[in-house]
Amino acid sequence: MAKYSFQLNGRPVTVDSWDPGQPLLYLLRNTLELHGPKFGCGLAQCGACTVLVDGKPTRACVTPIRQAAGRSVATIEGLGGPEKPDPVQAAFIAEQAAQCGYCTNGMIMAAKALLAQTPHPTPEQVKQGLAGNLCRCGTHTRILRAVMRAAQA
Ligand code: FES
Ligand code: FES
Repeated sequence: MAKYSFQLNGRPVTVDSWDPGQPLLYLLRNTLELHGPKFGCGLAQCGACTVLVDGKPTRACVTPIRQAAGRSVATIEGLGGPEKPDPVQAAFIAEQAAQCGYCTNGMIMAAKALLAQTPHPTPEQVKQGLAGNLCRCGTHTRILRAVMRAAQA
């Protein structure tokens, strides 16, 4: 079985996989037990599985493990926790920017990437930055407020 090594939330990890095409999302959730990234569509269409690979928002559901090897992968678990949330996580809590919460991982990771590039975005830039992330609950207005709040934090 082949081994694939990469940085995960700042720490080196190595995973075994029979299949170099196995999606990164499966290894994160099933092998590494990181359940923040969600399986939504499995087709790069919804954004629920978003992680950052070398800082770029990436659909883990369609990213083969061979493409993650040697890279730096960040998941929402690496941002912060209940005691010390990341500013974007804190802003989502403050604005109550979730209903079912299934999209929240992707929204927060996409927002992290957006704010890293554009620390003080306009509402229109936030809408464009998160346009590929779907929310079936229609929480977009609160999500937008949360990202704008995080930008001011
Ligand atoms: S589960 Fe990956 S984009 Fe929908
Ligand atoms: S809060 Fe339910 S999908 Fe966005």
